Amino acid sequence: MSVSETGTKQSVEGPGLSAPHDAADVLRIFQHSFPIGFHRLFNTSDDRIAVLEAVADWSNAVIARDNGLPCGILGLRHAKGSFTNGISPGLRARYGQVGTGWRRLAMSGLDSHEYDPVLLIDGIAVDPAMRRGGIGRALINAAMGEVARRGLNGLRLDVDARNEGAIRFYRALGFTLTREREIGPSRYVLGVSRVLTFTLWR
Ligand SMILES: CC(C)(COP(=O)(O)OP(=O)(O)OC[C@H]1O[C@@H](n2cnc3c(N)ncnc32)[C@H](O)[C@@H]1OP(=O)(O)O)[C@@H](O)C(=O)NCCC(=O)NCCS
Repeated sequence: MSVSETGTKQSVEGPGLSAPHDAADVLRIFQHSFPIGFHRLFNTSDDRIAVLEAVADWSNAVIARDNGLPCGILGLRHAKGSFTNGISPGLRARYGQVGTGWRRLAMSGLDSHEYDPVLLIDGIAVDPAMRRGGIGRALINAAMGEVARRGLNGLRLDVDARNEGAIRFYRALGFTLTREREIGPSRYVLGVSRVLTFTLWR
């Protein structure tokens, strides 16, 4: 992104970042990545941010900024790691062994275990006040740059079938529906029952 006529300076950085000084602010935006489900996994929004802050691997993040302030974030997932990889230690510190056990079990209901030859999106969100300004598109473009750099075939993600806004966004950017699946019993914890997989081929 570049400097606009209004003087607003927007930029997109990453992947390959080190932890930003304003990590909690970035994660406050990131938690919008799961707008519908996941309500039972964390007791409070502060809990969710604390857990994410403890485990976030910033080398797998793309961050959008507006005049230096975070306005969007995209996490990446691949065979060797992900933005929210190794969430268990963060959960354990917050919820103990048993509290972590059932949360991990529920989350595993979403795992697709499909990596190469595509890069996976491990969450994408834009600050609600800044949507429809091209920031989401810029984040996807940066991720596609990483797809090309790694010599992969495309970018893939899972989305809750009820998330109509996000689905319109993915379709507008050229993603195609490549899979549909029902979530097993963990749907009762996750609050998500049908997941659509979209892929943007290079
Ligand atoms: C999905 C999301 C990341 C899109 O970010 P954004 O910065 O608003 O997207 P852009 O401005 O780059 O949109 C690009 C195009 O996608 C389409 N689009 C984006 N959001 C849309 C919506 N809610 N409804 C319909 N079309 C939409 C439009 O065609 C848009 O172009 P236009 O504004 O010129 O018409 C953002 O809405 C968001 O953070 N949503 C909540 C989190 C979420 O659901 N994440 C996905 C979980 S899988």
